[in-house]
Amino acid sequence: MQLNPFSGVYLTDPASVWRRILDDPDEVHYAEDLGLWLISRHAHVRRALADASTFGNVLTLAPVYEVCPEAMSVIMQLDAPPTTAAADPPVHPRTRRALRATFANTADRVEAEYGAIVRRRVEQLVSRLAARDGEQVDLIPEFATELPLLVVLDILGVPDADIGRIRSWADGQIALVWGQPDPAEQVRLAQGLVDFWHYCQELVQQRVDSGQRGDDYISRALAYRDDDDSVLTVSEVASLAFNLLVAGHETTAGLLAHSIDQALSSPQRWRTIGTDPRYVPAFVTETLRFAPAIDGWLRVTHRDVTLGNVTIPAGARCLLLIGAANRDPGVFTHPDRFDPHRPDVRDQLSFGHGPHYCIGAALAGLEARITLTRLAAAIPGLRLTSEQHRSYKPNVAFRAHHSLLATIDTMAPVDTTAVPEVAGAEMHAA
Ligand code: HEM
Repeated sequence: MQLNPFSGVYLTDPASVWRRILDDPDEVHYAEDLGLWLISRHAHVRRALADASTFGNVLTLAPVYEVCPEAMSVIMQLDAPPTTAAADPPVHPRTRRALRATFANTADRVEAEYGAIVRRRVEQLVSRLAARDGEQVDLIPEFATELPLLVVLDILGVPDADIGRIRSWADGQIALVWGQPDPAEQVRLAQGLVDFWHYCQELVQQRVDSGQRGDDYISRALAYRDDDDSVLTVSEVASLAFNLLVAGHETTAGLLAHSIDQALSSPQRWRTIGTDPRYVPAFVTETLRFAPAIDGWLRVTHRDVTLGNVTIPAGARCLLLIGAANRDPGVFTHPDRFDPHRPDVRDQLSFGHGPHYCIGAALAGLEARITLTRLAAAIPGLRLTSEQHRSYKPNVAFRAHHSLLATIDTMAPVDTTAVPEVAGAEMHAA
């Protein structure tokens, strides 16, 4: 089976590739070019996400291709201990306990602890856009990638002034691990990753040295640690910050971009979102299923495992195609239809499943709901520009828009339809 995630149709219409893989009688495929086993069916992806004793996370953050020796020698300087997405038992249950205690991960806690931050940052960005009435803007840098980064910096207690370098390091990590950079670029990105890690170590060390504790995430994690290395080491606190700065930013940027893209695909949808906030939660959840911000995720097998009619050997790297699993016709009725009212939407796997289930799911959902509600209310005439060429960055995991061009119009368009679009299935290509 061939899968080229770095060029061609996968960058413009990934759903057609998922359909081809799902329709094949073999239930699991080996992609020779990538050296990865492709797991696409819902039941298999769900199992691989949940079964930590068979499918390990130890290589989840390791590059998907053979890195050149120069870049590898830089990467070897990275001594960040695995704490989240790259940690297996026995470390992961302990660091996961620390994460749950220090990072708000339920709807109520997120609203109480981060609600004010999200609203303040959304207002700031929406007002900045509304002030550009009549102009054409690119909603990706102007909103989608900006909001989640500002929010996560506020949560971690990192100064706004550092936003530029953190964005560039985080983007670089994603390109280095899940992209296909050339050797010179690999060396540059690897050096950025090491600088990023040192930056996170310094952030934490400054708080340790000063003894000052605020209400920010790093202070909380240090308080939770309570000078006890068996609970969490100082280096693990830095590693949690290192992971959260990337995980909390690019992922949610993708969700915002896909949500806004879907919402602006028809004027009636945009109007409904602006006038009926009750429509928004289901809309965001269906966007997650239909166009997941992470549509492929890595595991490595600890032993031979048989899925359906195929046996994957021990030590094999697997790409769990979450985007395909979310469109498995055995689970979702009319899976290629965008339908915010579908009853089966909760079965999607966009935030993972099992022990590594996304700690930021509730935060990402809140950011997306507030964004859509406020944007549609403040800029009711916002519309995509007609000459839009949708394509995504070359990557096996993160489905990130290059751009999303729109015209700012703060006037509500004249309603030419008699029936508002609320219920019913809606078609829109991914
Ligand atoms: C739409 C937005 C997001 C998506 C699609 C997403 C997706 C995922 C997925 C698929 C996993 C599972 C990884 C695995 O099983 O190995 C995961 C884990 C994780 N996510 Fe998210 N995520 C999002 C937002 C966030 C945010 C906002 C944060 C924090 C600020 C965050 C932090 C994490 C962390 C720390 C983990 C690792 C948890 C662990 O290993 O125990 N994510 N995310």
